[in-house]
Amino acid sequence: MTPHQIALVQASFAKVVPIAATAADLFYGRLFEIAPEIRSMFPDDLSGQKKKLMAMLGTVVASLIRLDQLLPAVRALGQRHADYGVTAAHFEPVGAALLWTLEQGLGEDFTPEVKEAWAAVYATLSALMIAAMGRAMLEAA
Ligand code: HEM
Repeated sequence: MTPHQIALVQASFAKVVPIAATAADLFYGRLFEIAPEIRSMFPDDLSGQKKKLMAMLGTVVASLIRLDQLLPAVRALGQRHADYGVTAAHFEPVGAALLWTLEQGLGEDFTPEVKEAWAAVYATLSALMIAAMGRAMLEAA
């Protein structure tokens, strides 16, 4: 995740913010299409979840340049995800749905370079969350 990739992610996320509600609808629609087994992990009413996800993404994107300050929040998020029953394997379809949503929302602004930048950010975030989930499971054992 280079400084240039961070700048690309921040500039492209700014274009998604005005259509955040639509993006959240697209994201969950796509996620449950490609990984239907995940649907039952979420509450029936996704409206609160959609807002929380977009808010968290906004926080993460805004703080990428000083990721160290974000670490405690990302670790805590990972630990809560262990409690939700999330496993490392779940991050693959979630990442795919995220990239697909950005492609829909950004259109031709979703260049290969922008795509790669988002993939790098998601990979970093996932690795941190998965590490925290592992720790949470060890502590619970
Ligand atoms: C970068 C990756 C992710 C981010 C930023 C993220 C963000 C969030 C946020 C902000 C919440 C709200 C509750 C809380 O803060 O604890 C949440 C809840 C949740 N997430 Fe994630 N998440 C990610 C990955 C995943 C993955 C891979 C799954 C697997 C299916 C998942 C499943 C869930 C579930 C089941 C809930 C709880 C829903 C509920 O019971 O209300 N998340 N997530």
